[in-house]
Amino acid sequence: MKKNGKSIQMALALLAVGTLLLNGCSAAKPAEKKSIRIGVTLYRGEDAFINNIRSSLEEKAKEYEQQTGIKVNLEIMDPKGNQNTQNSQVDRFLSLEYDAICVNMVDRSAASYVINKAMDAGTPVVFFNREPVEEDMKRWEHLYYVGEDARESAVLQGELLVDAYQENPGSLDLNGDGTVGYVMLEGERSHQDSLIRTEWSVQTMRDGDIPLEKLTGGSANWDRSQAAALMEQWIRQFGDAIEVVIGNNDEMALGAAEALERAGDTRGVKVVGIDGTPQGIEGLKSGKLYGTVQCDSDEYAEVIFEIAASEALGQNVQEKVELEEGTYYQCSQKALTVADLP
Ligand code: GAL
Repeated sequence: MKKNGKSIQMALALLAVGTLLLNGCSAAKPAEKKSIRIGVTLYRGEDAFINNIRSSLEEKAKEYEQQTGIKVNLEIMDPKGNQNTQNSQVDRFLSLEYDAICVNMVDRSAASYVINKAMDAGTPVVFFNREPVEEDMKRWEHLYYVGEDARESAVLQGELLVDAYQENPGSLDLNGDGTVGYVMLEGERSHQDSLIRTEWSVQTMRDGDIPLEKLTGGSANWDRSQAAALMEQWIRQFGDAIEVVIGNNDEMALGAAEALERAGDTRGVKVVGIDGTPQGIEGLKSGKLYGTVQCDSDEYAEVIFEIAASEALGQNVQEKVELEEGTYYQCSQKALTVADLP
């Protein structure tokens, strides 16, 4: 009995040494990893655009597994708009030694916490959609940002309305008084996209000689119901003077369109958004939205995933994805009206 016990102990000890050696070897050669672990934390999973990116990321991970035979463990967490919760999720990913993390910051000015921790752990970070300040991004070569050019989205949005006006001024100037009254629904005030989109859509329309008159504007934090509530208030205040509604995103544009519908407004007020989410595209089809600017969510997710997976395998990211300044990637965008849909 005793002898048997000893040899079992010996066999276990040898097994443990063998496992240690094997692990040691694979850690020394990350390129030969057969599985990778990637942690993702979203700012708010309920957000329509972010939810769309989430689904695309899950698809990309599956495709990658099929194409490479490398197993992907993708964990996606939702801190529901709470920065402290997001910090804990990052801490957990790092303590479990995830190979790379992808972070959609709740509060983009709080990125230094994530960066400090990730640098200490030696874990690469792909930020997306909510851009940390440049000073933060420059701190380490394993920090990346994937987003879209806010000015480009806004110029494309403005051009949709310029084209409509040039074709038929009466399609915007509904009451024929020589000016086009508009209201502006802005995203979160702290978001890099809100200010730039607001400024450049209006600038583009002015450059395109639309005789604009701003009636009012306000932030509805990217949210459909907040936008509907603001719009109801504006309809009461400005009535038929409202001829165009500009939304910094599709959800808010849809909220405004629903408020117009509920008010029984059938004048054909043009409502435009940005994102081209499935809900936004539905809105184009049903006539709620006149136009949107679609960002390619497939490309967006693919680039986030590709950077994270390359880093996880210790590969050269620059060879896989073309980055600006070695750090930034801006996704492609296109303007859409119902006429552009298949
Ligand atoms: C914007 C997008 C919004 C919202 C926001 C969240 O780029 O247009 O719909 O998703 O990001 O950060």
